[in-house]
Amino acid sequence: MNILIKKIIHAGVLFISITLFSAGMSTNLIAAEDSAKLYKKQCKKCHGKKGEGKKFKKEPEKFKYAPINELSQDELLESLNKYFKMWSAKNWENKKEKKMAKATKKLDDAKIQTLAEFIVTLNK
Ligand code: HEC
Repeated sequence: MNILIKKIIHAGVLFISITLFSAGMSTNLIAAEDSAKLYKKQCKKCHGKKGEGKKFKKEPEKFKYAPINELSQDELLESLNKYFKMWSAKNWENKKEKKMAKATKKLDDAKIQTLAEFIVTLNK
């Protein structure tokens, strides 16, 4: 094969690899930013900025909203999936469960995954 053609092919392959690589990088960055935003918008008002939970004003020894920043990623995934299913089936046992189930109504698998990954970083 002509050496010039070889060089052109090489340059092309290199260019495509770099483009794909940077596209992958920016998707990751966007995901990290999105999860923080998602948390702030949909979870923070009950579970707190750092996932520390919220206690009752009148009974400061009791949690009104559970702390979630000490759960593992697997526990978070399991829990969020449980509430997500609860909401789809409209099937909860009490008001507290209903509150949390409703909080998952705008989520999907990808968002649940990204939130679980984000929440474990909150107490670091
Ligand atoms: C309207 C208030 C409210 C919002 C908003 C909310 N939660 Fe909750 N969350 C609760 C309540 C109440 C419980 C306890 C439910 C129960 O008793 O089963 C809970 C429980 C949880 C648990 C289980 C805790 C444990 O110890 O098992 C996780 C995990 C959780 N929430 C994550 C989230 C995430 C992530 C978001 C954002 C998508 C969110 N919550 C938004 C009220 C809320």
